[in-house]
Parts: sequence; structure tokens; C-alpha cells
Amino acid sequence: MKIIHTITELRAHLAAFQRPTFVPTMGNLHEGHLALMRQAKPLGDVSVASIFVNRLQFLPHEDFDTYPRTWASDCDKLQAAGCDVVFAPNEQELYPEPQTFRVQPSTELADILEGFFRPGFFGGVSTVVLKLLNCVQPGVAVFGKKDYQQLMVIQRMVQQFALPVEIVGGEITRSTEGLALSSRNGYLSDSERAEAVQLSRALNAMASAIHAGASDFAALEQQAMATLTARGWQPDYMVVRRRRDLQSPEPGDVLVVLGAAKISNTRLIDNLEV
Ligand code: PAF
Repeated sequence: MKIIHTITELRAHLAAFQRPTFVPTMGNLHEGHLALMRQAKPLGDVSVASIFVNRLQFLPHEDFDTYPRTWASDCDKLQAAGCDVVFAPNEQELYPEPQTFRVQPSTELADILEGFFRPGFFGGVSTVVLKLLNCVQPGVAVFGKKDYQQLMVIQRMVQQFALPVEIVGGEITRSTEGLALSSRNGYLSDSERAEAVQLSRALNAMASAIHAGASDFAALEQQAMATLTARGWQPDYMVVRRRRDLQSPEPGDVLVVLGAAKISNTRLIDNLEV
């Protein structure tokens, strides 16, 4: 596995290949990231992962400074997963001057749900992803469905700017109890971790009710919020949306349920396609 820190060296190395595959990450890798790597690898002739904690997507009060940087174990895991190239630029390399040109995603998609509670988040994500795509120039890039809205924002950006890359979604990897794997699960104490599975349980309950014919989505949403609140969570949203644009559904729409909630100081998100 080759480790590369500069854009120049990355481009020189990848020039020998036809179709790089790409999985962008912020490091602190877990089995969910590695599943995306394994999914990506057979889709091209060289597999690339990036590790870069992107300042632009953190709000001032969020965990940019304390976000876990676990470089050595990340490299071990990537190597074991068959990754060919790790691109790990430092901030000076990716943002040598203030990044004053930014991607501005459409407000209908990027200012709802995660974007409502984390204003500017998707602008920061889109900007770094556009830049990373320009560095790697992959034929295909894989993004996890755990960040469902992020995947959709990236798909729309690629479509709107006619970027020559195929975007593929990777299924959520869960613990045996059902907890969606996330780097932020590392912030949880043992008891919080045991409780954390309730987020996916609440989403499952919403999905089961819909499968059983429930059509009062507002009632389902309120019930899920109340269930989590009663257990000591601070839910931001528990919603039923249509998959195609994450707006409120109309009869016949294909659905997804999405949730975000804080347990103590850790904010978790999850979703389930219905
Ligand atoms: O999902 C993530 O880890 C990040 O948002 C990404 C896509 C690597 C951009 O920094």
C-alpha cells in the first residue's frame, strides 16, 4: 500500500491507471469504512482511500480539534482491506490558502435535516469532496448510506457539475445489536453504547408501522421523538421522507426514515430505507 501526502505525487502515481476507485474518509476507521473499501476495490484498477479531517464541515462548537486522529491503526486497517493508495494531505496541502471558493449546494436539499441542525455542513462537505475528486480523478467513488443526505448531496453535485465520476452508495454496517457503526460511537461510555441501539430500534418501529399500513406519518414521528426523549435522549428529528429528494412524502412515494439524536454529548444519526 502506497502512502501519498501531496497532490502532485498522487496524480503522478495514478497516471498509470485507467479507473481509480475512491473512498473518502476522515480517518478513525471502523468496519463500515472497510466495507466501503471492499465494495469499491473490484470496481476499478486501483483503490484509493483518503484520510483528511475537513475543517470546513465542522461548526465552531463541534469536535474538529478533538476528532480522533488514529493514523497508524487506520493504515493497518486499510492495508488489511486491500487498499492500494492512501491519500493523506495535510491542511497546508489541501488548503494552502483560505478556501474562499466554495460549493453552495441547493438549499432545498442541504438546509433541511442535517443541514438545518448543522448549518453550512453540506457546503463544507461538498467543497472538500469536489476538491478530493479533482485530486484523485476516480472513475467511481463510494459513499456510505449511513450519511444518507450526504450521499444525496454528492450525487446531485456530481450531476449538476457533470463531474466524470460514478457515485455508488454503500449499505450501513451495524453491530449485532443494530447500532450503525460510526466514528463518533467511540465517544460513548459502555452504558451509553448499550442505550445507543435505541435510535435504530425507533427507526425500525417507524418502518414496521409503515409496512403494516400506518399512514399518519406525523404521529409516527412524534411517537419516535417521545420514545427517545422519555429514555433521556435529545432527538433533533425522527422523520419519514421520500427517498428521491428527502422532502415530505406524497402517496406512492418510496420512503426512508431518518433520525438524529443526542445521547449525553454525542450526536448520532441513522436511517432506514422502508
Ligand atoms: O463522510 C465523511 O467522512 C466526510 O463527510 C467526507 C465525505 C470524508 C468529507 O470530509
